[in-house]
Amino acid sequence: MAKVSLQNVSKFYTGSKKSKVTAVSNLTLEINHGEFMVLVGPSGCGKTTTLRMIAGLEEIDGGSIHMDDTKVNDLEPKDRDVAMVFQNYALYPHMSVLENISLGLKLRKFPKPEIAQRVEEASVMLGIQDLLNRMPDQLSGGQRQRVAVGRALVRRPKVFLFDEPLSNLDARMRIQMRMELTELHRKLGSTMIYVTHDQAEAMTMGDRIMVMNNGSLQQVAPPLTIYRKPVNQFVASFIGSPPMNLLKLHSVKITDQAHLPGTDSVGILRLPGEVVIGENVHHVIGFRPEQGHLLEEDELLTHDSSKTLLIKGSIQWLEPTGADIFVHVLAGPHKIIIRETSEMQWKVGQQVIIKVPEEELLFF
Ligand SMILES: Nc1ncnc2c1ncn2[C@@H]1O[C@H](COP(=O)(O)OP(=O)(O)OP(=O)(O)O)[C@@H](O)[C@H]1O
Ligand SMILES: [Mg+2]
Repeated sequence: MAKVSLQNVSKFYTGSKKSKVTAVSNLTLEINHGEFMVLVGPSGCGKTTTLRMIAGLEEIDGGSIHMDDTKVNDLEPKDRDVAMVFQNYALYPHMSVLENISLGLKLRKFPKPEIAQRVEEASVMLGIQDLLNRMPDQLSGGQRQRVAVGRALVRRPKVFLFDEPLSNLDARMRIQMRMELTELHRKLGSTMIYVTHDQAEAMTMGDRIMVMNNGSLQQVAPPLTIYRKPVNQFVASFIGSPPMNLLKLHSVKITDQAHLPGTDSVGILRLPGEVVIGENVHHVIGFRPEQGHLLEEDELLTHDSSKTLLIKGSIQWLEPTGADIFVHVLAGPHKIIIRETSEMQWKVGQQVIIKVPEEELLFF
């Protein structure tokens, strides 16, 4: 296990017509000994490039990378003691599972008994002892994935790098492998850097999550901090499903609060006292679907709502998920999603009031 530090790391590619593509820009980050760091972000944001630079498969154009106290900028991949698991598994089709797993050790001239012992240990850990003599095309996707992990595992590297390893698996298998990899991390205590664009995977697996966009680091924090205290609108809308509700306040006209309810107007009825809207203030209010509550219009009078955001709108669409229901509400220019329990009988077209406690609101 090792600590990995990136300081102002940048990577540029040459795009079409010799234009410069910034793949990663000034990335500064420290990944601790034994940490499970999840790297998330939309397609093209620089996740794979970041991993490849750490692995040494890609030269860096600026900054430095350290593993523990050693600067590795100029070290060959084989001298960095990292192992990478790719999205497409990259197994050799003409080699058996056993040969695939042991190849890296053979090339490094490990003695045979040592190789046998490591393969045995890894295959027990991954539950693939019975598959060692099969060829890759005789395996299911999940089994191939385990073999790819096994190949990394036997190397006992200081750092494991995973690039979207589960994206070719079906939903059920992904959840299974997610648990297995988390368990593996717990057993090994190795430093792992795990790329995904699946935010649910990020939330459940990471000790910390780093969110990237357009080659830049947006936020790095434990999952719940990222969920509850996103530093900007990008993080707020990228993490969470459905995403956080974001209301642009510069387009808000607040209706006469004295005439609640029964007013015909739709939109934001009341903002909590602390929110001041000036002419040119482009504030954005955010809240998660589960932080809002729906009231039927005439319920409002019975609630004390001086410390709440109140929004009036009509139900546009209902999205039942089983345990809960996502209620899509249109309120003036704002589209808002509220998570409610299924028993409530909401109907499309119904007029409702959304109530959000002041302390749940975020401002951007
Ligand atoms: N060899 C290359 N030549 C030119 N541009 C490249 C090259 N490799 C990557 N890029 C560009 O660098 C940026 C980052 O790419 P990268 O592969 O790191 O994204 P990613 O976050 O892994 O995306 P995905 O989720 O789709 O895998 C993208 O704009 C991509 O088009
Ligand atoms: Mg990628």
